[in-house]
Amino acid sequence: MKIEKIILLAAMTTSCLSVSAQNETSVYLNKTKPIGERIEDAISRMTLEEKVALCHAQGKFSSPGVPRLGIPELWMSDGPHGVRAEINWNDWGYSNWTNDSITAFPALTALAATWNPDMSALYGKSVGEEARYREKDVLLGPGVNIYRTPLNGRNFEYMGEDPYLAGEMVVPYIQELQKNGVAACVKHFALNNQEKWRGNINVKLSDRALYEIYLPAFKRAVQDGGAWSIMGAYNQIWEEHCCHNSLLLNNILRKEWGFDGVVITDWGGAHNTKQAALNGLDIEMGSFTNGLTSESDFGYNDYYLADPYLNMIRKGEVPESTVDVKVRNILRLIFRTAMNTEKPFGSGPNEEHYAAAKQIGDESIVLLKNSGILPLVPRTGMKILVVGENATRPLNQGGGSSELKVKDMFTPLKAIQTTYGEEVRYAMGYKSGRPMYDAEEIIPQVTLDSLHQEAVAMAKEAEVVIYIGGLNKNAYQDCESTDRREYNLPWGQDQLIEDLAAANPNLIIANVSGNAYAMPWLDKVPAVLQSWYLGTMIGPSMVDVISGKINPSGKLPFSFPKKLEDNGAHHFGEASYPGIEGASAGNAANDLKGADVSAGNDPQQEYLEDIWVGYRWHDTKKIPALFPFGHGLSYTTFSYGKATLSAKEMSADGSLTITVPITNTGSIEGKETVQLYVHDEKSSLPRPLKELKGFKKVNIAPGTTVEVDFTLTPDDLKFFDDNQHKWIAEPGKFKVLIGSSSTDIRNTVQFVYK
Ligand code: BGC
Repeated sequence: MKIEKIILLAAMTTSCLSVSAQNETSVYLNKTKPIGERIEDAISRMTLEEKVALCHAQGKFSSPGVPRLGIPELWMSDGPHGVRAEINWNDWGYSNWTNDSITAFPALTALAATWNPDMSALYGKSVGEEARYREKDVLLGPGVNIYRTPLNGRNFEYMGEDPYLAGEMVVPYIQELQKNGVAACVKHFALNNQEKWRGNINVKLSDRALYEIYLPAFKRAVQDGGAWSIMGAYNQIWEEHCCHNSLLLNNILRKEWGFDGVVITDWGGAHNTKQAALNGLDIEMGSFTNGLTSESDFGYNDYYLADPYLNMIRKGEVPESTVDVKVRNILRLIFRTAMNTEKPFGSGPNEEHYAAAKQIGDESIVLLKNSGILPLVPRTGMKILVVGENATRPLNQGGGSSELKVKDMFTPLKAIQTTYGEEVRYAMGYKSGRPMYDAEEIIPQVTLDSLHQEAVAMAKEAEVVIYIGGLNKNAYQDCESTDRREYNLPWGQDQLIEDLAAANPNLIIANVSGNAYAMPWLDKVPAVLQSWYLGTMIGPSMVDVISGKINPSGKLPFSFPKKLEDNGAHHFGEASYPGIEGASAGNAANDLKGADVSAGNDPQQEYLEDIWVGYRWHDTKKIPALFPFGHGLSYTTFSYGKATLSAKEMSADGSLTITVPITNTGSIEGKETVQLYVHDEKSSLPRPLKELKGFKKVNIAPGTTVEVDFTLTPDDLKFFDDNQHKWIAEPGKFKVLIGSSSTDIRNTVQFVYK
């Protein structure tokens, strides 16, 4: 043992002597040289040990650089809604710094609900400036996992159920974020569409569903957004963990999409050294080693990509070239971020960022129903009662890794009091427990009853009741690591809303959530607003929409089914959601299998609804949603004129322009999101009734008309044929459907693809 160590040291010393440390002529330090040359120069100076060290964590949120060569560490932070507070070096505790509070931006569901790529750009720019100010190199976000089931605890961190919408929205976020010299780390690649059993569930699905539904937003993030890093998901697909999944990372990400960035594991997502060495992973983070779960007992040298990897290379079990590939990617990331001397300095929380958060929030709130009670224009002497825990709750706390320490938080109750006067009354109505920790807290029935009764009694005396409830960031709600347990609102809210409606007909529901939920009381209330986790500016955004200062313009980024079974994933029972624990690997409906790791007793799941996700399911199967994808009302009205096509035919190398005049027929200014869906009349494989292929948000003054243009190309007509393993557009008739939501289609035009 001793002799071995001495030989090793001797070998290290020789290799160190054979490479020179930095000096002023070092090519890797010369920023005028092309990145490729700088990378090769740096690699030529590094020892094997230094290379391997780059491939794994040195603390909870950093990986080492090469100290001898002056190559800096990489500092990462969650993401995606703001820069997370500092975490201890070796455990998950917060470091209790006093200079790490930030702006909380609206959750990504809210961003998607704006249907406005300009809001994504503003978001990326603002959060990027804060990340840079906090000296982060990698921001762990944004997330583009597809909204498959309303029970997924993490839907609030993603951008809805449609691959086109998520793709359009993710690109500007990444581009603007990265202008700060901070890398986006797009997550969670791929199919982390539920939290239950996320660590080991084995997902099976058809290649078609994978390519048409679950991959496109990631592909856009990589190819159009130019993301510098991507995070592997915890789950398995094709019986291999996503963080070192050969087909996903080597074949699709690298070969098909040409990704030149870094693949980072989700925290603790690596499971096997050989696969980690060979299958496209670059940096391993967050692992528990030695089989221990006690955070103080593991050593970073025990990581799969640390000593075990070094030993495999030394024994010739994996080639050294595998580490060179990783180090090239990592150095490229370091040159783009930590060693980027051109990057700006960023800025901390400030008025501009609050204004950005407010603007995004304003555009995200969705008016689901309004029989005329809204807007509630402020008047003196109004007797308003606010009910609901979310009116005062610190909703940036809890929820898992996206938890934020905010510098300021303007609650809905405070904002309502500011707008409508201090005499606004408040009743909690229900109680849920402390953020995140108290999912199981037993709140005494007598407390719940008295809160309930107090609210109902106060409602009888009010002129108008504004109810601000919904979900929160507790475990089993909108929260990482757990899925929701029911589709209905928790903590007796359904009964509370029924009783409030009976006590006072002027009941406005303004719920906060990142997910859909049942509304058994819908017919009994005159208005429903869907708000999201809007961060620092939640109160001002909500009250401005309620009062009419802001005309609502958000549209749903996912469908609200009437009941859970109406959702495609749930229609097929347990095998499809949540999966079956301990079942053996069955036949996946794909032909890309071939991974060599047995799934053992890990939970097995098959996406039996296939490509019929969200509105594709509701539409095609004729199961109406309670509120459909793309739905959202305004305080004004819009009429759609006749759509015209630039030609009646499209050729394989051609394109078509569709023009639609939209008129604001009401009396106030408003924004409308015009949506374009494509319907294929006849195809060799079944296709959804319609698919979103374009949208534009336009601001229109009352009484005026704006012409909205869309360009369609053959790519917009394609589906993924898994027999040929390629995207194809088949000649024939197509319809273009122009609508105000996925079901409110105002206009249809037809053309032939030749
Ligand atoms: C989450 C990631 C997060 C990471 C670091 C994981 O548990 O899944 O999204 O970035 O922790 O906090």
